[in-house]
Amino acid sequence: MRRVIIAGNWKMNKNLQESIDLANFIKRSLFDIADVEIVICPPFTSLSDVEEVIMDSNIKMGAQDVYWEKEGAFTGEISCSMLKSAGCEYCIVGHSERRLLFGETNETVNKKTKALLREGLKPIVCVGEKLEERKNGRTFSVVKDHVEKSLSGLTRDQMLKIIIAYEPVWAIGTGLNATKDEAQEVHKYIRSLLKAMYDEELAKSVRIQYGGSVKPDNIKELISQEDVDGALVGGASLKADSFCAIVKNCL
Ligand code: PGA
Repeated sequence: MRRVIIAGNWKMNKNLQESIDLANFIKRSLFDIADVEIVICPPFTSLSDVEEVIMDSNIKMGAQDVYWEKEGAFTGEISCSMLKSAGCEYCIVGHSERRLLFGETNETVNKKTKALLREGLKPIVCVGEKLEERKNGRTFSVVKDHVEKSLSGLTRDQMLKIIIAYEPVWAIGTGLNATKDEAQEVHKYIRSLLKAMYDEELAKSVRIQYGGSVKPDNIKELISQEDVDGALVGGASLKADSFCAIVKNCL
């Protein structure tokens, strides 16, 4: 049984006090939810303070990016052990905004994924095609490339700790979400890739989130799809009401 996982990616939003307030509201509203795994991903500057708020609650925390080296002269970067010491359990890697705006490649995603696993953190690895790629019938080939290269060289045990987030780039922040059928088609395809890379049992165990304009009113039909195991939520995770409604609509 794959447990539904809803993660909120706050991106470059929320100063310290706003982060604390949002985390507090989410904690209070969702304190009795046991059947959905709930993760919030604040900006780096808020991680430790948000951890204070959610400590001993059912809310978990993730970061939005990481650097793969252990420590040293890498100005501006954050290591896996820093994230762990701030209270993170998860970390998003390979988000399309990082791929498009900051030169992230499958190779760097792979290095980050391996570094996180070495530190005992769970990577949320994002994959997904751009609009022209979908229009040109290249959705599957792009997703295959992202999955195979970003996740190459992982042991079976490591792979079981990964969450994959399928995020069609054309659906992120645009209000245009993939239909439930479009999402299901790609999620099923990703599972077939995992089966080819490992085995059927593993393919059935790995959780695959959908991301891209997820809102309280479309989560139900997305989550009802056989291969959709949750969501990575951007815009709608910035307001406590909509994020909490998304989580509750998964029940
Ligand atoms: P969105 O972002 O929900 O605002 O479309 C999703 C994401 O970038 O993870």
